[in-house]
Order: sequence, then structure tokens, then C-alpha cells
Amino acid sequence: MENFTYYNPARIIFGRDTEAQVGREMKKLGSRVLLVYGGGSIKRSGLYDTVVRSLTNEGLSYVELPGVQPNPRLGLVQEGVRLCREHQVDAILAVGGGSTIDTAKTVAFGVPYEGDVWDFFEAKAEIREALPIGVVLTIPAAGSESSDSCVITKEEGLLKRAAASEHMIPRFAIMNPAFTCTLPAYQTACGATDILAHLMERYFTQTTHVDFTDRLLEAAMRTIINYTPMALENPENYDIRAEIMWAGTVAHNNLLNTGRISDWGSHGIEHELSALYDIAHGAGLAIVFPAWMKYVCHAGMPRFVQFAVRVFGVDLAFGEPEQIVTQGIRRLESYLQSIGLPIRLSEIGIDESHFAEMAEKATKSGPMGRFLPLYAQDVESIYRLAL
Ligand code: NZQ
Ligand code: ZN
Repeated sequence: MENFTYYNPARIIFGRDTEAQVGREMKKLGSRVLLVYGGGSIKRSGLYDTVVRSLTNEGLSYVELPGVQPNPRLGLVQEGVRLCREHQVDAILAVGGGSTIDTAKTVAFGVPYEGDVWDFFEAKAEIREALPIGVVLTIPAAGSESSDSCVITKEEGLLKRAAASEHMIPRFAIMNPAFTCTLPAYQTACGATDILAHLMERYFTQTTHVDFTDRLLEAAMRTIINYTPMALENPENYDIRAEIMWAGTVAHNNLLNTGRISDWGSHGIEHELSALYDIAHGAGLAIVFPAWMKYVCHAGMPRFVQFAVRVFGVDLAFGEPEQIVTQGIRRLESYLQSIGLPIRLSEIGIDESHFAEMAEKATKSGPMGRFLPLYAQDVESIYRLAL
């Protein structure tokens, strides 16, 4: 096991009607709020009205930054920074999913920085401060509600890049599973796959003697695998939505990679796809992850055997390790198909024309992933396996 420091200050306020507490929690962070949200789902569900009422009741003033789109853009972040400076905003509230939260985070560390906020995404500057952020989460998926990272796309060159710092961990996240009942089936499945991928990125490690976190990761993966089909069949069931929502946060709050080196190759390879083709991140992962597994499994067969046996119930007597692993990957693919996701690029109309370009971009600042470091040629091969 590796040495580690674990720190996560995000207060989780979970359950029915918790959104009414948002004003009280925001008041601890500031008095002039930037309210960030997406394309309108929070207005349709009534959450917007509750949030605004709660802020107003606490005497907080707010300015709005609506219109965050999935795979959020730098342009809107810059607009948010401008608004914060003009109105002397001192705290930011994100109401929505990963795209909204990531926009809020980037505005939060963009405001006190005099240079170009994109510097942080190119490792040209280090995040040293940020406005405090609160979250009301509406989709279990990205885990951004308590993660120390954010992902933004720069329109020029379609560069989708991540930045990380503990300064951007939200101070609180309000999570009422009832608000996730309005999620369309496709978004539910994409979100669940992102959660599963966050667990798998951590599970596929070369670090040894990490049995405790292995077991926690397996439990979380089994939970997502079991409950997602149930949520698709019973979209209004609060208890099913609650299981997925809490698992989604724990999957990405860094507790489950304590003491182990996680991979993140599949995420890097996927980000190039969602940057260029604007697909849902979870759908991209459903395509990339199995291909990544096929490509790298020989660099650590015992771990892939363990995954097949413990997570997908492949019998150890199934055959040689190679056959067990192949069967495990097959079961993962069948599972992803069963929840309505594509597992090949060709299914969503993507051909090989940009493989080389995406592989170059993904590895521009060094090899991708830690389980088996991947160079441009490897990444291109993985895109081909995913075709
Ligand atoms: O914009 P609105 O109208 O709110 O609609 C959204 C959006 O169209 C809709 N939605 C959200 N909650 C809903 C709802 N529709 C009905 N009912 C609800 N309750 O869902 C759509 C997707 O929203 P988005 O915020 O894009 O989803 P998600 O949470 O999956 O975030 C994806 C983004 O997060 C990044 C991804 O790369 C992607 O850009 N990630 C961020 C991470 C982080 N910060 O730690 C880690 C992840 O690995 C990921 O890369
Ligand atoms: Zn993800």
C-alpha cells in the first residue's frame, strides 16, 4: 500500500427536502452569490424556485449564470468571471450536474487570478485560491460535488482538459435523490457508467496489498451494476435513486483510491472523444473502457481475473486466465448494452478519420494512464479496438 493523506471537506447533506437548506448553507460562505445552472431541467422540476426562495429568505443577493451545456465551455466560464467581478460576488452556487459544477469551480478559481484561467488547464499556473462553492446536485455521475477536479472544453482547438486542486472542493453538496427521478433513461445510464468508470479507474492498479479498498470498490461496483437496471425500470423509486446517488459521490471523493495508484487512461482517451464529437462522457466511457481493458490486460492478468470473478461472477473454473478475463470483459459489454449504451464507436457514427489526431492530443503532455503507460500509438490502437 502507498502512503497517503486523505482530506475531503465537502459537507454532504443528503435526503428528502434537503434543498430547502441551501440558503442557510450559502450564508455561511458569502452574501453575494453567483447562481450557475444548465439548460433548464431545474426550472422544469421546480428546484430553481425552491433555491431562489431559500437564498432570498436568508437575505442573500444573487446574479445568474444559466446555460451551461454538457461538456462545458470556457466561454461561459469567462462570462462568469466577468459577472463575479462586476457584482463583487463572494460565493458560488452550482445547481445541476458535473458540467454545471465544473463551470462553477473554474469561475471560482478564475476570479482571483489575473491571468488567463486556461493557464490552470495547461499546468502553466497553480491554483492557490478560489471563491467558496456550494452545490445542489441533480444527477449522480461525475462526482464533481465532492471531487477536487473539474473538466472544461476550450472552443478553440476543441481541447477538453482537467484541472485539480483541493481549493475547488465544494464546501457542501445538497443531494436529494427525488430530483434525479426526472432523469431520462439515457442520462441515468450515462451517469451510472461514469460512476462505474470512476471505480474501475481506481480498481485497475499495479499497487499491491490494497485488499480493503479492493473490497470497497467491488461493493460499490456491484451496487451500481445492480441498481441501474432497477432505476431504469422504476425511474420514480426514491430508494433506488438514493443508492446510486450516494455511491456516485463516494466513487469519486478519493476515499476509494487511498493507498493505491489509480489509472485514468480511459478517462483521458474518452475526453478526446467528447471534446471532438460532443458525446455524453458516460457513453464515451462505455465504448472506451472495454477496449482499454482488452489492450492492457496482459500487463496485469491477476487483477483482471479478480475483476471478472468478483465483479461479474465469472467462475474461476471457467478456464485459463485469458478466457476468464475475456469473459469478464464480455459481461461488462453485455451489461452496458443492456442499460442502453453504445459499446462501439461505429454505433454512434464515429469513424477512424480523427484517431491519430486524438491520440496525439491525448498524449501531448506525456503517456496516458498508470496501469500501463500509453503512448500515442497505443491510444490509437485502443480507438481501433473500439471501432
Ligand atoms: O442542463 P440541464 O437542463 O440541467 O440538463 C442536464 C444535461 O442535459 C441533464 N440533467 C441533469 N440533471 C437532470 C437532468 N435532466 C433531467 N433531470 C435532472 N435531474 O443531464 C444532462 C447532462 O448534465 P451534465 O452536467 O453534463 O452531466 P454529468 O454530471 O454527467 O457531467 C458531465 C461532465 O462532467 C465531466 C465530464 O467530462 C463532463 O464534461 N467530469 C467531471 C469530473 C469532475 N469534475 O470530477 C469527473 C468526471 O470523470 C467527468 O470527466
Ligand atoms: Zn468520469
